[in-house]
Amino acid sequence: MPKKIVAGNWKMNNDLSETETLLKNLKKQVIPEDVTVMVAPSFTNLYAAFESVREHPIEVVAQNMHQSVNGAFTGEVSAPMLKSVGIQTVILGHSERRAYFNETNDLLAEKVNTALENELKVIFCIGEELNDRRNSDHFEVIQNQLENGLFHISEESWSHIIIAYEPVWAIGTGETASPKQAQEMHEYIRKTIAKHYSHAIANEVSILYGGSVKPANATEIFAKKDVDGGLIGGASLKAEDFMAIVNAFG
Ligand code: G3H
Repeated sequence: MPKKIVAGNWKMNNDLSETETLLKNLKKQVIPEDVTVMVAPSFTNLYAAFESVREHPIEVVAQNMHQSVNGAFTGEVSAPMLKSVGIQTVILGHSERRAYFNETNDLLAEKVNTALENELKVIFCIGEELNDRRNSDHFEVIQNQLENGLFHISEESWSHIIIAYEPVWAIGTGETASPKQAQEMHEYIRKTIAKHYSHAIANEVSILYGGSVKPANATEIFAKKDVDGGLIGGASLKAEDFMAIVNAFG
């Protein structure tokens, strides 16, 4: 059975004191035993966040990292640096990284390798744009992102992979994929993994949905068979909304 996971991607929000306040509020809440809760603060706040939840089941994860482990890459952060402040998981391939920072499938394949070589787990984001869906190319786009960004990894590496399906047209727009659309794509992703690897691997990997998930729609989305949780943006910035989403698992 895939793990149930709800991850809050705080993106470029929350300074140090806001990070500490949000974590303080999250720590007051009871986390269901069968749900893994993650939060992704900005780089500058990772260490403080990690220290803040040291005795708590919330996992602090990173939003990105560079594909090299060190070197002359001004402004970048490496896998060993993340590890050195206690981080065990990194989000790679978020659509904002693909769109605004030109991250291609080839580059992401490199980043995945570096993360795995450094024993970091990866939340690998995939998702089609609105035009892809309008042209009925969405399955092809997803297949391409999987094949070129992820399917070079070994069978053993899959225990370190979480997939996040985030249709770009649903991110921060208030427009959510319907539970039926989410299930249809999650099922497709699982079948594609089964075809390239095995049913055993496909049936174990957690596939999260992301894109305007809110307390009001989370229950219906999480109820779908192949949806194992969510990657939450805007609604993860308020403790009560985020915890309502965490508690939306039936
Ligand atoms: O990483 C999170 C996603 O981009 C979803 O963001 O919940 O604000 O639509 P959103």
